[in-house]
Amino acid sequence: MNNNTKTAHISTKTPNHWDLDAPKIYARWRENKLRQSQEMANAESLVIRDLAKPDENEMRALIESCAKTNMALYEAPNAADQHPDDTRLALRSFSEQMDLKIAEDHRSAGKNGVVALTVSQAPSQRGYLPYSQRPMNWHTDGYYNAPDQQIRAMVLHCVNPARSGGQNQFLDCEIAYIRLRDHNPAFIHALMHPQAMTIPENKTDDGEFRPASIGPVFSVDKNNHLAMRYTARTRSIAWRQDEDTQAAVRFLQNLLENGDPFTKTATLKAGQGILCNNSLHNRTGFDPEKDRSSDRLMFRIRFHNRVKGT
Ligand SMILES: [Fe+2]
Repeated sequence: MNNNTKTAHISTKTPNHWDLDAPKIYARWRENKLRQSQEMANAESLVIRDLAKPDENEMRALIESCAKTNMALYEAPNAADQHPDDTRLALRSFSEQMDLKIAEDHRSAGKNGVVALTVSQAPSQRGYLPYSQRPMNWHTDGYYNAPDQQIRAMVLHCVNPARSGGQNQFLDCEIAYIRLRDHNPAFIHALMHPQAMTIPENKTDDGEFRPASIGPVFSVDKNNHLAMRYTARTRSIAWRQDEDTQAAVRFLQNLLENGDPFTKTATLKAGQGILCNNSLHNRTGFDPEKDRSSDRLMFRIRFHNRVKGT
């Protein structure tokens, strides 16, 4: 083999911290990431005086929090007692200022691309967990979406909390990645496999059809950002049948169930919300009294891109 042939096989791609064969670069990134997460671990929620128009300092704080931990907890006192329709508009304006592109095609996307998560008996929502009082297991949003329709960020905003329960937990996907890779780099290799996780096709009662979604758990986009597609559901899901995938899924499930030092727990109050780069999240059940319904109302907006500057 001559020299020319040899060089032809050398990749021109600059190694980065996502590469499993670049452990030193990974170690540097990891150290920085864990330090920043620690710095933000006890951060108070950020006060946004006018949800529709965060000022320069508020914007900076939101972006800094998302840059370090992929999420920002905020509270907007002016949104706590306004009409929900005004909150929808304010959230839309808030999102625009974050340069977020709203994913409009969700089947329940209501006015302004804002989905009202509340207990619902509407034919298109009845029987679906988000519209019930039941708990929701760990997931990232849109894990069943087509590859070109991925959800990269979202806002979850509380209009009216539950009387009891309805607590959310969040975990930065990059922290989950670190825990998996530190335990066994082969877990990352397995979860980046293009057939790691399959959600079978689904036909809803109202005749809507969603094709099967087959793809990796972790992927890295063209801007070198990590994306995560995950659900802890155990029904209607097929994990790739190989040892590393199975072990990685068990490890991740344990991590999420047992909690990580950086798991964020929040029972959002009226006017409070979380802006995140589609972090892992769950929800406890709420308002279980049989004879009473629940007025819990959360607004959710999903986006196809990440929070600006993050
Ligand atoms: Fe969700």
